[in-house]
Amino acid sequence: MLRTPLCQVLGIEAPILAAPMGFITGPELAAAISNSGGLGIISFSGSPPPVLRKEIRRLRSLTSRPFGVGVLLSGPHLSFPVQAVVEVCLEERVPVLETFWGDPTPYVSQAHAAGVKVIDQVGSVADAKRAVRAGVDAIVAQGVEAGGHVAGEVTTMALVPRVVDAVAPLPVVAAGGIGDARGLVAALALGAQGVMIGTRLIATPEAYAHPVYKQKILDATEDQTVRTTLFGYGWPNAPHRTLRTPFVERWLPEETRGSEQRSDEPRIGETKIGGQPVPLLRFMGFPPTPDASGDLESMDFLAGQSVGLVQAMKPAADVVHELIEAACRLIAQLAENR
Ligand SMILES: Cc1cc2nc3c(=O)[nH]c(=O)nc-3n(C[C@H](O)[C@H](O)[C@H](O)COP(=O)(O)O)c2cc1C
Repeated sequence: MLRTPLCQVLGIEAPILAAPMGFITGPELAAAISNSGGLGIISFSGSPPPVLRKEIRRLRSLTSRPFGVGVLLSGPHLSFPVQAVVEVCLEERVPVLETFWGDPTPYVSQAHAAGVKVIDQVGSVADAKRAVRAGVDAIVAQGVEAGGHVAGEVTTMALVPRVVDAVAPLPVVAAGGIGDARGLVAALALGAQGVMIGTRLIATPEAYAHPVYKQKILDATEDQTVRTTLFGYGWPNAPHRTLRTPFVERWLPEETRGSEQRSDEPRIGETKIGGQPVPLLRFMGFPPTPDASGDLESMDFLAGQSVGLVQAMKPAADVVHELIEAACRLIAQLAENR
């Protein structure tokens, strides 16, 4: 087994965290990761608090191991306050609260009082230092290669050791661009105590992604993503990494249009959030789930540069086990070649 001190902090066996991918990481995927010894983190995905509570309970029924809930502290337009979302997590005593895109300070002491650990995902050394001051239990350093919303502009290779040095002895998790055991070992060499993987997990049976999305992840190569603000309807001017589909290529020259949130954008389809139908307008940033219908090709296929390493659909448990076994072999080989 590949254990690091982070495993003890989070009560897990393997230092692999499943990214809380909005809409995509639901209870099935998170449970599969937690049951394999890692930490599955569901994303709250803008669901109203009662729906989130149900999701947490469903996840709890699928695993007896630690898990987390990811909460975006600012960004998408919500019809309820972030505090209400955090409260559900604390009332449900989720083992780990993951925060992203905002200042975790107001939430850390309430979480700790409820016995909930807090990990904050950041894209810069400045935000990592803010998280230390806030008193979080671990920090996720996200490189610009990452899929989904991207907080900073620095690569994982350059950011992780800087964050490790800035926040020592707090554990750091590397995120962005990690798709196989080589990336995991490299992250450990950079001083990280674990990895958070997103894109690799979209091509698993457990991910709540539309089959077309899963196939695109299998087909795409590392040079077929772009960091853009194009899908800015509902969350304007927020950089995200998504696949360079023909739709994206068509609109990139007019990238700012997506954040204008024009009411006359055409309706391109429909999806469901918390079981309720939601119309999809052009440039809305909803990665297609099995509930999505309509013009899928115009939707937001969020993915990171690690997409080139994703070449086969595999159960999430296999992804975790292969990462760990191959990383152990690789570390032994590297030591032998000294
Ligand atoms: C489809 C998708 C959706 C994401 N949604 C979220 C989210 O809602 N909250 C969050 O903290 N991170 C989100 N992320 C970013 C991940 O937490 C993580 O930084 C990223 O997946 C790591 O890079 P990788 O995709 O190369 O593994 C998302 C990533 C992807 C691919």
